[in-house]
Amino acid sequence: MNFFPLVRPALGLVDPESAHRLTLLGLRWGFGPSDRAADPVALSISRFGLHFSNPLGIAAGFDKNGEVPDAMLAMGMGFAEVGTVTPRPQSGNPRPRIFRLAHEGAVINRLGFNNEGHASLRRRLEKRKARGGIVGVNIGANKDAADRIADYELGIRTFEDLASYFTVNISSPNTPGLRALQGRGELEALMTRVLKARTLNVPILLKIAPDLTDVDRADIAAVALDLKLDGLIVSNTTIERDGLVSGAHAKETGGLSGKPLFAMSTKVLADIYRLTGGKIPLIGVGGIASGADAYKKIRNGASLIQLYSALTYDGPDLVTRIKRELAENLKRDSFACLEDAIGIDVK
Ligand SMILES: Cc1cc2nc3c(=O)[nH]c(=O)nc-3n(C[C@H](O)[C@H](O)[C@H](O)COP(=O)(O)O)c2cc1C
Repeated sequence: MNFFPLVRPALGLVDPESAHRLTLLGLRWGFGPSDRAADPVALSISRFGLHFSNPLGIAAGFDKNGEVPDAMLAMGMGFAEVGTVTPRPQSGNPRPRIFRLAHEGAVINRLGFNNEGHASLRRRLEKRKARGGIVGVNIGANKDAADRIADYELGIRTFEDLASYFTVNISSPNTPGLRALQGRGELEALMTRVLKARTLNVPILLKIAPDLTDVDRADIAAVALDLKLDGLIVSNTTIERDGLVSGAHAKETGGLSGKPLFAMSTKVLADIYRLTGGKIPLIGVGGIASGADAYKKIRNGASLIQLYSALTYDGPDLVTRIKRELAENLKRDSFACLEDAIGIDVK
């Protein structure tokens, strides 16, 4: 049963972080909707050795501590990503640190990697391991780490036997200095060590920011090809505020997500697809709120897609709707399957 339409007005009245906590509790107690209908075959896709029954996943940050991956899969998501998790628990920045810009379908957050740490996430993932499903682990570094790269290596070693794939997150704007790891030399050093830390054959993806110069993009693409990364996730939140009109909150510090991020993140996605010659699987994320948006990401180079912000406004029915609309879009344009539409708009 889907309780979201009943509780939606109440969730809108409390502050966003408390609303999120209540949502997670509701999902843990089994109040999430369930979409057990088989996904249309046209939406299935295989990438980095995993088979996805549909390309839509929950983006990192929704379930930082791995409390509800199975509720997200039951909702009809093709995969779930938990984290960002850091080795030691971390409380993050002072509250308030999440802001709704409802008129624009946007969110600004400056959480700062608040999470319960590796040990807690490991316990939860061990408990659900037998359930299967694709659950990726998004890893990060503690704010006060002496050697940030060592934190990422530890993430790989800690979750290797439990993660379907890893996301190396160096693109949060809320940990000072983190995004500097995206520079060519830094990125090479980081990813070389991270890849070496792996002993099992778990795919390792890199999540990048949308706020990158042309040189940054070319460097990232070159490193990804050189080191044969399994995939790139494009993109995290932006520090830009272009085109925002929502009064008070628009000036809050942090990363902007949701609708205003769509055009920008899709442009970076297409650039990265072009720069990597379509050789590296891309996950498109940023501002997806409809099947048409999801389709656009795919036409611009995404093999898989993720969302977060739109779910907080539209609720879980959005998952079923996006899948249905995506299948309709493919059919309308005479694509037999998702695979055939990937990157079709990239010149
Ligand atoms: C409240 C909030 C927390 C987030 N936390 C993380 C995080 O811990 N790690 C991460 O890689 N991305 C995080 N993100 C970014 C999302 O995964 C996603 O890349 C971004 O929000 C763009 O997608 P959207 O427009 O569909 O929300 C967070 C986003 C929001 C709104």
